[in-house]
Amino acid sequence: MSDDYRAVNRALWDERAPVHAASPDYAVAQFVADPHHLSQVVTFDLPLLGPVEGLRGVHLQCHIGTDTVSLARLGARMTGLDFSAAALAEGRRLAEAAHADVDFVESDVYGAIDVLPQGEFDLVFTGIGALCWLPDIRRWAAVVATLLRPGGRLFIREGHPVLWSLAEPRDDGVLAIDHAYFEQPEPLVWDEPGTYVETEAQLHITLSHEWNHGLGEVVSALLAEGLQITGLVEHDSIPWDGLPGMMARVAAGEWRLADRPERLPHSYTLQAVKG
Ligand SMILES: C[S@@+](CC[C@H](N)C(=O)[O-])C[C@H]1O[C@@H](n2cnc3c(N)ncnc32)[C@H](O)[C@@H]1O
Repeated sequence: MSDDYRAVNRALWDERAPVHAASPDYAVAQFVADPHHLSQVVTFDLPLLGPVEGLRGVHLQCHIGTDTVSLARLGARMTGLDFSAAALAEGRRLAEAAHADVDFVESDVYGAIDVLPQGEFDLVFTGIGALCWLPDIRRWAAVVATLLRPGGRLFIREGHPVLWSLAEPRDDGVLAIDHAYFEQPEPLVWDEPGTYVETEAQLHITLSHEWNHGLGEVVSALLAEGLQITGLVEHDSIPWDGLPGMMARVAAGEWRLADRPERLPHSYTLQAVKG
């Protein structure tokens, strides 16, 4: 596996980070206006996440830091890690404006154990469009296990691999599998304009390299690292319009298939504890 995917994907994210920070969908202004504002993602997570006050947490692939700052507002001591310098610049700006004490660290996920303390985190938090950028789920699980202290917990809510294996939305409403469900050595190469937030911005970088990881592959990778699975919940909603034209916005920033959403696992929350 060549490392070219990193340069390709980093360019994509560097261009999108300021656009996302300016979009109403990430609600950056609300963090500044309301000291109690939390991201819709973390608000959704709260019932399964539980209290995080006092926990030392790291948010892998933290993007522009809206979820990282939300966890800090709930009392966790947060570090956000991402490989996009532009995303981290937005995160630092947000944390300062929101009076949140968050450290932001620039690194590839696979390099996290070289730039962060090993075995000291109570909480590794990640997801919502994170795993699809990583070619090897076992390597990711090893990073998570190395960062956690014994008894520390992984919390991930992520897009469901079944959703990511679907064909482009069809006029007849049929959900058809068209892409790999299982992790493949070669990436899915996309060349698409636009992004998942509301914006008028013209984006010029359109190429990305992505991978799917089956649910069993994610669970098995964590088990192989000695983590104990403590929760796995599949949801019938997702916090972005995953199938444009087929989904409707529902409560709390979530999207769901408009027609018979019970056909599709949209996202999942997986929790695991290091023994
Ligand atoms: C969809 S965003 C993460 C979403 C986050 N949950 C949010 O909405 O704020 C994906 C993030 O992963 C980061 N990323 C992608 N590949 C990465 C890698 N190999 N190492 C570190 N960060 C990476 C990107 O820079 C981007 O900020």
